[in-house]
Amino acid sequence: MKRLVILTGAGISAESGLGTFREKDGLWTRYDLNDVATPRGFARNPGLVLDFYNARRANARAACPNAAHVALAELEAFWPGEMLIVTQNVDDLHERAGSQSILHIHGGLEGALCAACDHRWPAPAEMRLADACPACGHAPARPDIVWFGEYPYHMQQIEAALLRADLFVAIGTSGTVYPAAGFAEIAARTGADCLELNAEASAVAPDFDEVRLGPASRIVPEWVAELRAALG
Ligand code: OAD
Repeated sequence: MKRLVILTGAGISAESGLGTFREKDGLWTRYDLNDVATPRGFARNPGLVLDFYNARRANARAACPNAAHVALAELEAFWPGEMLIVTQNVDDLHERAGSQSILHIHGGLEGALCAACDHRWPAPAEMRLADACPACGHAPARPDIVWFGEYPYHMQQIEAALLRADLFVAIGTSGTVYPAAGFAEIAARTGADCLELNAEASAVAPDFDEVRLGPASRIVPEWVAELRAALG
């Protein structure tokens, strides 16, 4: 039985119309991440941060899964062993494509989080400054997104899955943000084969046994078709 861990990044959702971060015209070329993706930025100007994520939530809701998300959902349905998708993405396109086993390491746009008591609840389409925590009454609430300087979600579970993986595949991520950028190195340490599927080779491409380049909507379905054929 093969144990498979797949890491996805912004590149898998690029062809669904959701922007990446570090490429030409990427989000971090238009916004200072210190303003919109740090606890300090939220404390300084919560309205700016809520507007930023309200716009991203609206974009994500208007987007549809593409052929790469769909191929991963199909893979989960025929894969005979364990399969886990770890996504850095805050959209829910994997879920909407039908994937079941997903961990959002950087949180999600559909969640609201109380900065005072850690209570979580479903985010409305537009989060506003006056929105108070239903548990403790603190306002403003923040989006349930892991910001720079914060500890990513589900790390124990992910590290355990990486250490027992036979195959680790990274899709559409630049390999610049840790801890996710170090996952291939962790998986390789205990003998997993590592494959990168990306538009351009990532910063950590040397950690992979193989790198295949191209748009996710083409190279992910091709790879999934190969696995299906190999399994008979
Ligand atoms: P990046 O914007 O850093 O990298 C996007 C990657 O996707 C690059 O390697 C591109 O070559 C690739 N790519 C672009 N279009 C593609 C396509 N059509 N098919 C396949 N690959 C494509 O995004 P991430 O690596 O996801 O965190 O960024 C990691 C984290 O940095 C994000 O989760 C976010 C950001 O700051 C937080 O906000 C906490």
